[in-house]
Amino acid sequence: MTEIPRHIAIIMDGNGRWAKKRLLPRSAGHREGMKRMISLSEHAFDVGVEYVTLFALSTENLSRPQEELDGLFSLFRKYFAENIQRLLQKHIRLRVVGDMSLLPPDIGELSRKGEEATAAGERGTLVLAIGYGARQELLSAVNAAVRAGKELSQEEFASLLSTAGLPDPDLLIRTGREKRLSNFLLWQCAYTELYFSDKMFPAFTNADLDHALENYAGRERRYGKI
Ligand code: IPE
Ligand code: IPE
Ligand code: MG
Repeated sequence: MTEIPRHIAIIMDGNGRWAKKRLLPRSAGHREGMKRMISLSEHAFDVGVEYVTLFALSTENLSRPQEELDGLFSLFRKYFAENIQRLLQKHIRLRVVGDMSLLPPDIGELSRKGEEATAAGERGTLVLAIGYGARQELLSAVNAAVRAGKELSQEEFASLLSTAGLPDPDLLIRTGREKRLSNFLLWQCAYTELYFSDKMFPAFTNADLDHALENYAGRERRYGKI
């Protein structure tokens, strides 16, 4: 029996390059990516992962051309419309992290409704990071602490982050060949195991996820000890 990480986070990168290689518009890559995202997260819960965090849109991504952003927002709307029922059936709770004020108002509303509808899900938690940036998240926590006028413990500080109440990721997977964090979960990943795949996200299969999980199971987490 291999050790399954309790929480995996995925930086879903490479949709655009996947499409370009196939002479398709970037939007086709995002569409395929969305399908992969649904299948991968279900697979992760099926093998015993309890928390799956998916980085779908960063604060920096919001500077992309409006046409691409509109396509992404439409995909998120489609995701909420088609998947909340499925999450309910599977007893998965949805949590959305990110600055909703940066997104079209209906996306914030759909997120809130999806969170409410699935709040009783006890089999796992799906965390969707949209309009998310770690530095912005950290700064807003620092500013809240300054306003409160007192020094905080690590636990108190973590409770001011958008990920309050979630365990830190055990394994972070980034697809798409780049080896960087791109402003994702900078506080939460202090001791997370990192796994990089050269595959573009739409090509990252459930078997590739199994491979990442096997790789994780072979690691020794020392947390600075000997
Ligand atoms: C990841 O794929 C999805 C988002 C960031 C929204 P990209 O869109 O970054 O795809 P590449 O990196 O250009 O291939
Ligand atoms: C990271 O991918 C963000 C998401 C996958 C949502 P990017 O494509 O934005 O990252 P960079 O620009 O290559 O660092
Ligand atoms: Mg990218």
